[in-house]
Amino acid sequence: MQAAVIATEEQDPKRRVLKDVFGFDDFRPGQADVMDALLAGRHVMAVMPTGAGKSLCYQVPALVLGGLTIVVSPLVALMQDQVAALRLAGVAADTINSSIDRDANIAAWRRVASGQTRLLYLAPERLMSERMLDALARLDISLIAVDEAHCISQWGPAFRREYEDLSRLRGIFPNVPIIALTATADESMRTDIEARLFAERVETLVLGFDRPNIKLAIEAKQDSKRQLLRFVERHPGRSGIVYCLSRKKTEEMAAFLEKNGVTALAYHAGMSKEARDANQNAFMTLSGVVMVATIAFGMGIDKPDVAYVFHTDMPGSLEAYYQEIGRAGRDGRDAEAHMLFGLGDIRMRRLFIDDEDAAVEHKRRSHRRLDTLIGYCETAQCRRQVLLGYFGEEAQPCGNCDTCLDQAPRADGGAEARTILAAIAQSGERFGAGHVIDILLGHETEKVLARNHQRLASFGSGLAHKKDFWLSLIRQLAAGGFLEPDPSGHGGLAIAEKGHALGRGEMPFHYRVEVRSRALRKMRAAEGMNAEGVDASLLATLKSLRLRLAKERQVPAYVVFSDRTLIDMAERRPRDLDAFAEVNGVGAAKLKEFGQVFLSVIAGHQFDGSD
Ligand SMILES: Nc1ncnc2c1ncn2[C@@H]1O[C@H](COP(=O)(O)OP(=O)(O)OP(=O)(O)O)[C@@H](O)[C@H]1O
Ligand SMILES: [Mg+2]
Ligand SMILES: [Zn+2]
Repeated sequence: MQAAVIATEEQDPKRRVLKDVFGFDDFRPGQADVMDALLAGRHVMAVMPTGAGKSLCYQVPALVLGGLTIVVSPLVALMQDQVAALRLAGVAADTINSSIDRDANIAAWRRVASGQTRLLYLAPERLMSERMLDALARLDISLIAVDEAHCISQWGPAFRREYEDLSRLRGIFPNVPIIALTATADESMRTDIEARLFAERVETLVLGFDRPNIKLAIEAKQDSKRQLLRFVERHPGRSGIVYCLSRKKTEEMAAFLEKNGVTALAYHAGMSKEARDANQNAFMTLSGVVMVATIAFGMGIDKPDVAYVFHTDMPGSLEAYYQEIGRAGRDGRDAEAHMLFGLGDIRMRRLFIDDEDAAVEHKRRSHRRLDTLIGYCETAQCRRQVLLGYFGEEAQPCGNCDTCLDQAPRADGGAEARTILAAIAQSGERFGAGHVIDILLGHETEKVLARNHQRLASFGSGLAHKKDFWLSLIRQLAAGGFLEPDPSGHGGLAIAEKGHALGRGEMPFHYRVEVRSRALRKMRAAEGMNAEGVDASLLATLKSLRLRLAKERQVPAYVVFSDRTLIDMAERRPRDLDAFAEVNGVGAAKLKEFGQVFLSVIAGHQFDGSD
């Protein structure tokens, strides 16, 4: 037995390196296949989940092959960490970059040039400089690894201009195998990356995306701070990452947690490098620290015992979400991914996209990607099924997400879904959600009249519900794979195979019922308030404010806000504009006009007990 094991190890040099250098007994899924392909001289595109062990996929071959392996990595901090870790393992690794002084860079280059260095980590712009390329041309290059390769794709959320230049690599080093590694790439991004880096034959390995130990949940956003605190308090003494949209918010949230006895640190790109490094170090080395950060934090973070990733705001795309939650539970223990989601998030993200300085087609694509993410948030299906389905993987209901665990009230939406499908079919499967909804609601818009869509049987067939309802249902249908983008690629909706089955009544469809009021009642009950949760004196104050504002403008009071809006406001007690945008009946214009004045009145109101 013993002899057999030793014999295979000796025959298999990569296994020996794995054991001797890195101290691991077994490869993780996919690693051996990737390494074999590289060792045979082929190009490889490896798409493997976060924490799957992508680094070893090129580090081991680098040592087996000898010579010099070049590793392209987007962040200096990441490179430093990897080099330090490799050196600890006794591997001759170096980096040349702008953050270390000139003498150190010269010394590193000497080691590279003399053939001592096995792995050289470089940022893309450094590698692609003419000087570096000339110098490298004289050396024995065995392998080139492009880590975080999604940065090369313009469709990706992390696109970096410097990565584009890497497409010249294959021409400059025609005989060197190249490996591209990423955790997040859907089909179209994969094709894009392959076209840019390889152009010709490449072996693509896509490994399972599932991280079954991470529980997935999304909660309607009511009061981010309290919801966060309540969540964090369920994980005492554990490390966690909290993502916020803005720098300011990370600081506020961290301070709020600190005030409530939680060890929390902030991290964002606006902080000094010293402060950022200090906080990152504390997080990496101590246990039980909560890192409250913008997305500036995290690429390549490999801390095994992160118990949760909490999103106080919706991320930018499903890829970004997947990558961010992937930082939890890398030790294989139970972990949680928890997101707060509200209409304000959708509004904010749309604004971001519209304000972007980008081509129309790019914006359209970004909006569609956002729709996918919103569909994921709103789905009544198993979240993991939707998430994995997006990456092209089929799965059974997971039993470890909020929908599986049945926290979300659902309703049979078969009839409503068929109403939508009929409108899409009758209008030729070429139009986006907005137009389809105009048909459903019987709106005689210019576009409707121009196409004679007021004559369709579906015209006005959806009057039983409001626009938001239909929009949410369309997104849920898209997220569930019942609808797909129309082939022309202009953002229209077409009916997928599954959608046809649903149309024929062969498949059920359930949708998520607006959870707002129920969740809110629960929350209020937990806080010892009455079921309605409306503070009568606050409501009276809001009404008199409304009256004053209406008089100033010489309009009836309900034009300012309806009673329903004021009740919702009193229930939610928003503390900032974000939260105010969530209030029922608050649109962009009213948010701007009335948000601040209502917020200050609410803030100034004395609450009994809880505050
Ligand atoms: N075969 C193995 N056996 C045990 N541990 C391993 C093995 N391969 C990798 N690891 C460990 O798994 C952890 C994650 O590896 P790595 O940082 O390479 O992940 P990754 O796939 O690059 O993730 P990310 O997408 O987040 O960058 C590391 O701590 C690494 O040491
Ligand atoms: Mg990595
Ligand atoms: Zn599930």
